[in-house]
Amino acid sequence: MKAIVQREYGPPLEVLQLEDVDDPQPGGHEVVVRVRAAGVNALDWHLVTGEPTILRLAGTGVRRPKRSGVGRDVAGVVEAVGKDVTRFEPGAEVFGWCSGAFAEVVVTREDSLVDKPANVSFEQAAAVPVAAITALQGLRDRGELQRGQQVLITGASGGVGTFAVQLAKHLGSEVTAVCSTRNLDLVRSIGADHVVDYTQEDFTRIGKRYDVILDIAGRPPLLGCRRSLKPGGRLVMAGGEGNRWFGPLGRNARGMALSLVGRRRMLTFLAKETRDDTLVLADLLSSGDLSPVIDRTYGLAAAPEAVHYLEDGHTQGKVVVVV
Ligand SMILES: NC(=O)c1ccc[n+]([C@@H]2O[C@H](COP(=O)([O-])OP(=O)(O)OC[C@H]3O[C@@H](n4cnc5c(N)ncnc54)[C@H](OP(=O)(O)O)[C@@H]3O)[C@@H](O)[C@H]2O)c1
Repeated sequence: MKAIVQREYGPPLEVLQLEDVDDPQPGGHEVVVRVRAAGVNALDWHLVTGEPTILRLAGTGVRRPKRSGVGRDVAGVVEAVGKDVTRFEPGAEVFGWCSGAFAEVVVTREDSLVDKPANVSFEQAAAVPVAAITALQGLRDRGELQRGQQVLITGASGGVGTFAVQLAKHLGSEVTAVCSTRNLDLVRSIGADHVVDYTQEDFTRIGKRYDVILDIAGRPPLLGCRRSLKPGGRLVMAGGEGNRWFGPLGRNARGMALSLVGRRRMLTFLAKETRDDTLVLADLLSSGDLSPVIDRTYGLAAAPEAVHYLEDGHTQGKVVVVV
């Protein structure tokens, strides 16, 4: 079968190649999935380039990547199951996460997958796992967002942000979305009550205060964010690229330090893939309360271009590789 393979760190267009590799075989609790679509995430770009460098020390491989497969989010059809698998049978349409999703076939644990709702396409389902779980956990768990509260979301038009706007509305909050001029209509169309065009105004200087700020863009000044929180409010530092050595760690540390004084919390946040939350998202897809926004799709051979496209950080919703 064909798969996108990475043997060294570097620019996606240089280090990613489509190669013939062996078909994966399932272990006891594993499922073989014929991939129909694979979502592309900022995470993939980081793992391909090996930046920030701290990531390599955290276990991806210091000199070269330990894993050659690329891509995390997957949607497809179960082709074979291991002897201990109880949840799925061949033919089931599923989505979830795996290692090396940019491939014709993948193997992953059965608890990494859920049934794909019949009303969404494989492309839509593949757009969901990492980005929507990040949005859900950032708002509900780290932000402790409550019904009736006011939330501001930066990076609202991107992969994580377009899910965050919809989920914040679903959680019953009043949503202010921050994005650039060309995306104002997009964020309104997915439910934002108010918009701030960051090319025209700085939300930290317009005198409004929020219960929760989900900072996906990672750009606004931290002191300004603190000023824009109500007493007891929470800033969830979900995104941002930072420098090439430490990524967002420096900004996160400054935020935590600012939290030591006063009643406003500035919180670091790392999403965790869980089957329970993927089931929550599957229900919302099924009921139509969540609808993935897809910027563009690429074929498998063009997956390096898809990862490269993410580098600029201006996607409108999600990018998906269709296999
Ligand atoms: N903490 C976690 O567990 C976790 C999980 C997933 C992702 N992340 C991080 O979250 C971040 C966003 O991921 P994503 O997949 O949503 O990326 P994305 O699809 O590329 O979206 C990035 C967004 O940032 C906005 N943006 C770019 N420049 C900006 C600026 N100067 N000021 C304000 N907004 C700006 C863009 O909007 P415009 O086009 O309108 O400028 C776009 O909506 C990344 O840093 C990623 O690493 C963290």
